[in-house]
Amino acid sequence: MAERTQILAVAGARPNFMKIAPLLRELDRRPGFSFRLVHTGQHYDDAMSADFFRDLGIPEPDVNLGVGSGSHGEQTALVLRKIEQELVRNRPDAVVVVGDVNSTLAATLAAVKLHVPVAHVEAGLRSGDRTMPEEVNRLMTDTVCDWLFTTEPAAEQNLRREGVAAERIHFVGNVMIDTLLANAGRARELGVPERLGLQPRRYAAVTLHRPSNVDDPARLRDLIQALEALNERVPVVFPVHPRTAAAIEQLALPTPTTFRTLEPLGYLDFLGLVAEAQLVLTDSGGLQEETTALGVPCLTLRNSTERPITLDEGTNTLIGLDMDLLQREIDKVLSGGGKAGRIPELWDGEASKRIVDVLERDLGAGR
Ligand code: UD1
Repeated sequence: MAERTQILAVAGARPNFMKIAPLLRELDRRPGFSFRLVHTGQHYDDAMSADFFRDLGIPEPDVNLGVGSGSHGEQTALVLRKIEQELVRNRPDAVVVVGDVNSTLAATLAAVKLHVPVAHVEAGLRSGDRTMPEEVNRLMTDTVCDWLFTTEPAAEQNLRREGVAAERIHFVGNVMIDTLLANAGRARELGVPERLGLQPRRYAAVTLHRPSNVDDPARLRDLIQALEALNERVPVVFPVHPRTAAAIEQLALPTPTTFRTLEPLGYLDFLGLVAEAQLVLTDSGGLQEETTALGVPCLTLRNSTERPITLDEGTNTLIGLDMDLLQREIDKVLSGGGKAGRIPELWDGEASKRIVDVLERDLGAGR
């Protein structure tokens, strides 16, 4: 039998884990492939990493680069250096990267310089805002990678505008939604709202971690005030990212918040919480898509989104920094239920299959 095609899959930070999980499962099913998993260690707390591996049944990484936190330059450079060593030691036939975190860019750069082809899953998304570190990561990764797997039609338009050849772009759907659909039943059975003393469809779930919201004390104070006001009308629950926890501590608020803060939740608990929420407030990228898939209204506390289909077809509304608009949109959701939305094309749980089909064909796996 021919040798198996060797894939190196890379994941580093929380939003990568739900994207890599269904791809690994699909690769595992195909006799033509074998894979190794590298965890860069960008996220390292159990609540940001190990809990996700457990919830999602992701195998133990073959290698953990243990890069940890640092400035953008430091973190990216350390992943680049360490993953290059790994690629030289165990040269794969292709590398698969997902999303837009610093680890995504660093792994891509290391691989392409060694002439190892790279597949980028979730390519072509553009917020148009280069002050977001993720936007720079997306642009750089897409410029040099070989396969560009997209989640929505706007991504293909962005890539074509940037001069990417049509045959490198593959519209396959959304691997994060593969994971959501595979786990939604299990997550609902956990009864997360009840465990937190909440009534299903009668609470707001919040996440905030972007530098634009949490690194500016005045902005963070405004947001906390808005959450206090919302909590007067409907209970607010807020699992707090470590970056945000540190920023709130710095504010030295005179009194503890009246709304409920929690440690970051694992994948299933968080999905269980969001699936039954009346309303989600967030600055996350992925959660805009997850709420659209679940039909839960989402108010996004950012000026732009790289995922416009969630606005055009889904349940998402962009709020930006406008606190009056936030109030008006909250009113709309609480009184009328908010945007209903529909499920975007190919967000059907089969994206990983389509991706691995393309890789199988192009790499001649199993032949
Ligand atoms: C990273 C991604 C962002 C993604 C987010 C999800 C980049 C540029 N950003 O942002 O796109 O939406 O992950 O969480 O790659 N920290 C811990 N424990 C951890 C990880 C981080 O305490 O396990 C703290 C550290 O103080 C660290 C800070 O969080 O300095 C920020 O972590 P970092 O990985 O730099 O970026 P995120 O804000 O998590």
